[in-house]
Amino acid sequence: MKIIVTENYEEMSQKASEIIIGIVKNNPNAVLGLATGTSPIGTYQNMIKDHKENGTSYKNVSTVNLDEYVGLTADHDQSYAYFMRKNLFDGLDIDQTNTNLPCGSAKDLKAECDRYNALLAKKVPDVQVLGLGSNGHIGFNEPGTPIDSVTHLVDLTESTIKDNSRLFASVDEVPRQALSMGIKNIMQAKSIVMVVSGKNKAAAVKGMVNGAVTPDLPASALQLHPFVTVICDKDAASLL
Ligand code: F6R
Repeated sequence: MKIIVTENYEEMSQKASEIIIGIVKNNPNAVLGLATGTSPIGTYQNMIKDHKENGTSYKNVSTVNLDEYVGLTADHDQSYAYFMRKNLFDGLDIDQTNTNLPCGSAKDLKAECDRYNALLAKKVPDVQVLGLGSNGHIGFNEPGTPIDSVTHLVDLTESTIKDNSRLFASVDEVPRQALSMGIKNIMQAKSIVMVVSGKNKAAAVKGMVNGAVTPDLPASALQLHPFVTVICDKDAASLL
């Protein structure tokens, strides 16, 4: 694991966006694995700025997202599909038919997981962007998720529901389930860039980097991947 410690969120976002933009410039047909949440928003803003100022094109880029809430349609303003359009896709020249997320409003969730796994077998990310949960989750792979898991239905833990409630009118409105790529899907990416900021992530960062590889801290599996770059601000790195 390569660890880069930055002064703040802005510098973290700058470094992450440089890596992703470099990959797209090198390969206009790149597949990007993407995450939602607060951590990558600055990275996505830099990608949009670079696209507008320097013309980096995403016309032939395709994307696969990590996860989606169950029960929210793609036009719901808390769905991850909506988040991705507002925070990234609408600002790029990407063909939105090349963007993929699990469908959280699918009638048959098992069939939807199978569809997404089949898609991921064809669309292997050149880089997978990750955030880190304060409980060590990646995607919605909560503590206890096996390392060989593929896209599956997840019951969110109380800590994740609480962390994510800041974006909803009340904690009662946070969906209790999600569809998420599994750890095995994430590990198939050719490279991984994780962005982490804030003191509340420091213990998870410490466990991920220095602890044992264990399902109790799903992000620890990343120790087994050959090309992982963790970009964390100094608060997130404060226990290293
Ligand atoms: C988002 C995702 C989650 C988040 C994690 C951190 O698609 O899969 O694992 O990356 O919960 O969230 P933030 O960045 O909001 O702290």
